Amino acid sequence: MSTHDKIQPTVFVIFGGTGDLNARKLAPALYNLYLEGWLPEQFSIIGTGRTKLSDEEFRQNLLEDINQFSRTGKAAPEKWEVFNKNLYYQVADVNNVDTYKEFGTRIQQHEAEWKTKANVIYYLAVAPNFFPIIAENIAKSKLGAAADRVRIVVEKPIGHDLKSAQELNQLLTRLFEERQIYRIDHYLGKETVQNIMAFRFANSLLEPLWNRNYIDHVQISVTEQLGVGDRAGYYDGSGALRDMIQNHLLQLLCLVAMEPPINFNADEVRNRKVDVLRAMRRFSPEDVRLSTVRGQYASGWIEGKEVPGYRQERDANPESNTETFAAVKFFVDNWRWQGVPFYLRTGKRMHQSSSVITIQFKDVPHSVFPAESAEGGHQNRLIISIQPEMSIRLQMQAKRPGLEMILNTVDMVFDYKGTYTAQAPEAYETLLLDTMLGDQTLFMRGDQVEAAWDLIMPILNTWQNRKSLNFPNYSADSWGPESAEALIARDGFHWFTLPLNGKK
Ligand code: BG6
Repeated sequence: MSTHDKIQPTVFVIFGGTGDLNARKLAPALYNLYLEGWLPEQFSIIGTGRTKLSDEEFRQNLLEDINQFSRTGKAAPEKWEVFNKNLYYQVADVNNVDTYKEFGTRIQQHEAEWKTKANVIYYLAVAPNFFPIIAENIAKSKLGAAADRVRIVVEKPIGHDLKSAQELNQLLTRLFEERQIYRIDHYLGKETVQNIMAFRFANSLLEPLWNRNYIDHVQISVTEQLGVGDRAGYYDGSGALRDMIQNHLLQLLCLVAMEPPINFNADEVRNRKVDVLRAMRRFSPEDVRLSTVRGQYASGWIEGKEVPGYRQERDANPESNTETFAAVKFFVDNWRWQGVPFYLRTGKRMHQSSSVITIQFKDVPHSVFPAESAEGGHQNRLIISIQPEMSIRLQMQAKRPGLEMILNTVDMVFDYKGTYTAQAPEAYETLLLDTMLGDQTLFMRGDQVEAAWDLIMPILNTWQNRKSLNFPNYSADSWGPESAEALIARDGFHWFTLPLNGKK
């Protein structure tokens, strides 16, 4: 059976239909899935929200969103004409059970028209405080009972700490089966991130080297030039550790560090990832002091524009203790990785927007070349660039052409742009398609989320209990606080950055 044949008639119910996530990500992703033939013949998208809108107004809004945010550019009129007939809007009070009865009636109408039972995907693109009531009401209205056909998608943040994540998971698993629950971490849908698994497990070349005997350390760096913008209302209660490290960066770490699964089955893959999280060394308060760094951005200039400091952003507390930068040195205590540091860093208002994983290999055991023949270090590096450049490069030492034996570093590069002509799908396209297919491989299982919270709780607690006295401690357009350089320099390394468009 081809993947196309596995897609059943589907109704999407999008809570938060008038919200930002739907506008920027979900609607463009669904439209592009439609363009590329991945939506079933029979589908319906029902947006819901508190705002009163007619179907026509909703369609018009989504058209504007798609025109602005879709990777394929403006919608072609003849395509839009067909696609938009499947869009509906329903005003909803999520607290009111009658709202859900109306969904039930609409779904039944579609099924009667299509003469078949439909798969139903409830997408909770709303603030997390609405997750419990919506999930309860879906279940109470018996709209979630057909476990084979009904799925519920929840966006991060899954909880605010370990306890609240456990509570949410308990609630969701009381109301639904785990196989119905799709917890999104959009990083897992990124093309380059999925390729980490292909690269590691479809090439025999790497596995013999992929361990403590050959790998010196690993760096995972996700930096953004953007500040928090108008999201400080959410961000001030979150911070970089919760917003990025607990989920996106730890998921990347799991993909780098996991053992080979026995197959590509969702639970096999997720079991191996949970193993990594469980093997990670827990922090004592002293470890937090030695192995973590937090920062908050001050004002500065980015590309010729003056930008405010974090505390001056709209809705931010002017005395906020929230970190907008975090760097942490982790260890994975198992046979493969014993003693290999994993340095993770993320920050807003940094010098460059880029997500890069660097695997630094050990130096050769003995150099046969005189010291003056080497231009820099000898070490090999594997650099997986997730965005904006999508590439995997292996840095090797080679002889520079000439009469002398001078070594320099050269790159063997696999660049998506140079290799493929097709545009890579957006993460949400992949994840929405997988939800339709019932494939949970790229979604977080409840135990995974909890294991990640459990790991970072000592850091969160220590940071919360001990206010940072030197915030703000890095200026916009920098590489973060100096102590983050010191964190890695103490071990004899430095943060690796990939030059982008001439920017170091
Ligand atoms: C989100 C965070 O999950 O990921 C944001 O809440 C962050 O703060 C964003 O900006 C980064 O995602 P991407 O895909 O732009 O790297």
